[in-house]
Amino acid sequence: MKKFFWGVATSSFQIEGHIENDFTQWEKEGKFKRDGLNPTYDNGSNHWIMWKEDFGLLKELNVNAYRFSFEWSRIQPEPNSFSEKALDQYERMIDYLLKNEIEPFPTLHHFTHPIWFHEFSPWHTEKSIDVYFEFVAKIFNRFKDRVRYWITFNEPLVWVMAAYGEGNFPPGIKNLNLMMDALYNILIAHSKVYDLIKSSSQNFQTGIANHFIVFKSDRDWFLLDKAVRNRIHKFFNLVIPDAFITNNLIVSLPPILKYEKEINLNNKIDFWGVNYYYRLFTKFKLSLSNPFYFYTKHPETDTGWEIYPKGIFKVLKMISKYGKPIIVTENGIAINDEKIRMKFLRKHLKFIFKAIQQGIDIDGYFYWSLLDNYEWLFGKSKRFGLVYVDYENEFKRIPKESFYYYKNLIQIYNQKLDVISTENKVV
Ligand code: GAL
Repeated sequence: MKKFFWGVATSSFQIEGHIENDFTQWEKEGKFKRDGLNPTYDNGSNHWIMWKEDFGLLKELNVNAYRFSFEWSRIQPEPNSFSEKALDQYERMIDYLLKNEIEPFPTLHHFTHPIWFHEFSPWHTEKSIDVYFEFVAKIFNRFKDRVRYWITFNEPLVWVMAAYGEGNFPPGIKNLNLMMDALYNILIAHSKVYDLIKSSSQNFQTGIANHFIVFKSDRDWFLLDKAVRNRIHKFFNLVIPDAFITNNLIVSLPPILKYEKEINLNNKIDFWGVNYYYRLFTKFKLSLSNPFYFYTKHPETDTGWEIYPKGIFKVLKMISKYGKPIIVTENGIAINDEKIRMKFLRKHLKFIFKAIQQGIDIDGYFYWSLLDNYEWLFGKSKRFGLVYVDYENEFKRIPKESFYYYKNLIQIYNQKLDVISTENKVV
């Protein structure tokens, strides 16, 4: 059996601080202030300065993998200039991980952009593909001798929906056709980067971290609720994986959106990253403009999400049908009650283990997140971390009870995984 990766996940903007990008620009312009939300960034969790202490925590946690992202705005502050200084620090960070036998899992795009990007080469234009490619090539050439796993994009559909659908992420354009064009270009950019990476060595593994939600029809007896469920599920969960198999990007959500375009992805992906958090209920709404309605039936966490551990099993089963190895690239909970976080971990890992026992090829699990951090539209108020960050007191780090609990679970599950691998050898 392959080595199982146990890790935690973060993203650059959410933790690093000392960044000027499209999000900080929007914050300055007051564009996030709406619906009673007013997220403030204020140097995230100050990780850019405190990274050594944070990586010490990784060692203490005993993980053998760490997912993080490169901050594009830091590395390419202007379209024609790259910051060697920023790359040098990422190099020191990666070297530290390797020295401690922690596999780096970098994400190349996790929601944020340099300030110039949306003017210069927005994702709904073809130019974006080459601009992203150039940025990635720079990173890849610098780190290909030490990084084996690459995640090209984090949650491309979530990002385009926020940036071009609801318009609550920069660039804040509300246009569903442009949203699909942006998604198309992102997927083409992925495939170009895939070719670049694989042409260097077949041993590299390149994937996308996708967000998956379990959708359930509200009234099982009501066919229209089910129809809504099936349409939303097909769009949200399957549109991207299907495009890799069918070479077509197809959305059918009449009367809101209809889109169909050939896209030559040719199944160019080595693993599917699964980000799983919750379940939503779907309902048919009597409305000519938008019959699709979904909501959280049992809000339980600080972000108002349902805790539904069985859902991770369903999602893993569903994605396994696409025939690629799976890595759980994110799974976590925003809550202050540590008992609930520990239960969340225990239950989700139980279902992941069940999936492995049933023969589903799962290569790793990353808890979101190592530290309390900036949670996009919610700001610092939602705490997903295994480590508490005291924002008022020099960003002091305090490991929570769940930190030690996760450490212990890793040990327990490593023994269980060993048993499975010995049994497989006997067969
Ligand atoms: C994901 C996202 C992360 C993190 C997490 C918790 O969708 O990739 O950046 O914010 O949700 O909400």
